[in-house]
Amino acid sequence: MVLVGMMGSGKSSVGRRVARRLERPFVDADEELEARTGRPVRDWFADGEPAFRTAEAEVLAALLAAPQPSVVAAGGGVVVTEANRRALAAGAFVVWLDAEPAFLAGRVRRRSHRPLLDDDVEGTLARLHAERAGWYREVADAVIAVAPVHQRSSRPKRDLADEVADLVRRHEAGVSA
Ligand code: S3P
Repeated sequence: MVLVGMMGSGKSSVGRRVARRLERPFVDADEELEARTGRPVRDWFADGEPAFRTAEAEVLAALLAAPQPSVVAAGGGVVVTEANRRALAAGAFVVWLDAEPAFLAGRVRRRSHRPLLDDDVEGTLARLHAERAGWYREVADAVIAVAPVHQRSSRPKRDLADEVADLVRRHEAGVSA
């Protein structure tokens, strides 16, 4: 299964927990890209975003083709590449962790490992969210609104992971979620 959503939506931290619940390996797609290419995401972006997107698409294709089921946290921009959207829609159970820009801005640290957020964090998140929301919806088999879980729960990541793992189990049992 693949988790998609904006930077800061919790794909990696929730994904790790989902993988434990399902007893499957967890793969963070950005870490996988760095391991396979020997270059940090920031170095790829220094060559221009298209270079990064090409490498990202190759990693996604490899992960989706792997025979062993895993839990993949995709990079937030995985959906901007049309081939990735087609591959996700056709070849994976995809859950969108949906969160508004205002929620995300409070969770991403400035000058982090995310080159797209070097300047104007709030404005960039708002722009990217507007550009991508339709694409996330297009590839997703299920959507979970993240902010309400954070509001109502003292352990939101645990609860989000429970919900995602449940969706995967139902999907695989052929029960419509
Ligand atoms: C990006 C998200 C990042 C990483 C890169 C670009 C994006 O992944 O792939 O910095 O375009 O939204 P996370 O969503 O895991 O931070």
